[in-house]
Amino acid sequence: MAVELEQILRPIDHPYPPFPPKFMQVASGELMVIRQVTREEIPDILPHVEPLIHVERDYYDIVSVRVYAELLGYYRHRVQDEYVLVAQINGELAAIVNGRFATPELGVSLHTLALRRGLRIGAHAFAAKMEYHLDVVGQKEVLIVAESPIGFRRWMIEYNLAKRFEIPHELGGVPSYALTKEIFDKARGTLVVGRRPVPEDLLKKAQEKILPPSNPPKPPPDLLAATRAAKDPTGTAILLQRWKLARPASQSDAGGQEGTV
Ligand SMILES: CC(C)(COP(=O)(O)OP(=O)(O)OC[C@H]1O[C@@H](n2cnc3c(N)ncnc32)[C@H](O)[C@@H]1OP(=O)(O)O)[C@@H](O)C(=O)NCCC(=O)NCCS
Repeated sequence: MAVELEQILRPIDHPYPPFPPKFMQVASGELMVIRQVTREEIPDILPHVEPLIHVERDYYDIVSVRVYAELLGYYRHRVQDEYVLVAQINGELAAIVNGRFATPELGVSLHTLALRRGLRIGAHAFAAKMEYHLDVVGQKEVLIVAESPIGFRRWMIEYNLAKRFEIPHELGGVPSYALTKEIFDKARGTLVVGRRPVPEDLLKKAQEKILPPSNPPKPPPDLLAATRAAKDPTGTAILLQRWKLARPASQSDAGGQEGTV
């Protein structure tokens, strides 16, 4: 019974061609590989997305929580025709991009998440997914939205995307923008970089293991920093509370010491 029900719950993916991996040199001089991952690799990626759910800065929180759900949906067969690409530098996870094939002609860009900042890694990964939709699969256009000002600058402004405001995007039903083949052609040579085939050793290193990002975005050291700034600028109340908790029971029971620092 459970097996039969699973057959109903599980969407059947259409056979789209795979993304051919590519590589490029990023501004640091390092080589970065962008490749499609399999379902089996998703559990190696999720632990690196989860901590970003707590990073409010630059909207990493909302984007990461959605990426987590989409990756899990892909892993657990609860999304139709989704794909996931990763960017890796020396095996380290540097970016995640994903999307969906809504119809053979229409693509849906889901998310772009950079786990290393300042090298346009997210921009390169986004360009790779557009290449997947338009060049590899041959779709007519890709629907896109931005959830952050940096995203808006990177996609809507840098590519000068077309408005498709009459179409609500899958991400929250907000008005869509679109990347067409014509717009993409104009971006080639500037925004779209990389070479194929990926040298065998480089690809092997990337496929071997998805290594943790070495310098991912992090939340502020104190999650209550904002509250503290507003109501307790010196942070004294929180520090006292923490020291009290951290102190061994024998010392706190000694009496008379609480509140002294
Ligand atoms: C949007 C995103 C994918 C772009 O990635 P990217 O192209 O690699 O660019 P970065 O995020 O590293 O840099 C963006 C800007 O911040 C600056 N920046 C550089 N290092 C930075 C750092 N350590 N911290 C913050 N900003 C930094 C860059 O100089 C850059 O400015 P520029 O646009 O003038 O070049 C990435 O910012 C991201 O993952 N953001 C959170 C999720 C998100 O918004 N996704 C897109 C949803 S639409």
